[in-house]
Amino acid sequence: MTGPVVVLVGPPGAGKSTVAAVLAARLQVALRDTDDDVVRQAGKEIPEIFFDDGEPHFRALERAAVAAALAEHDGVLSLGGGAVLAEETRALLAGLPVVFLDMSLASAVRRVGLDAPRPLLTVNPRKQWRELMEKRRPLYTEVARAVVGTDERTPEEVAQAVLDAL
Ligand code: S3P
Repeated sequence: MTGPVVVLVGPPGAGKSTVAAVLAARLQVALRDTDDDVVRQAGKEIPEIFFDDGEPHFRALERAAVAAALAEHDGVLSLGGGAVLAEETRALLAGLPVVFLDMSLASAVRRVGLDAPRPLLTVNPRKQWRELMEKRRPLYTEVARAVVGTDERTPEEVAQAVLDAL
């Protein structure tokens, strides 16, 4: 057990899951996504967990999913966008090959809302995303060994930049 080869963090919409899949294919290693682990554990989708059980419950499931994945997984790992909010999680990430996939507000506005529903970005996505990033940017930066911008880049280009950065 050597630990994950890459851990991707960053805001919703930055393309973590897509880039993680490209990286796993290129490196020929397994792929794991803590959002998927939480959904499997809870037996329902993330918006339902938020709605039925509340965000604190989701965060507790997420902390457990991240701790388990970091202990068990030695491929590419993609973390839910809010995982870094937990101090316990940030401590576990210390020293690991963590890459922050960064994006501008303009790109977020274009991308967010186009795919999976996101419980934290429903009312005013632009404002909510900006506030979320003000709070989280220092946390993503704190845990990351490298920061890779995703604006105007394809998932393949971002994956290459991640490999170059590590
Ligand atoms: C969240 C991001 C989501 C998911 C949940 C909460 C967040 O994951 O974990 O909706 O707080 O930023 P993605 O970043 O994979 O969309």
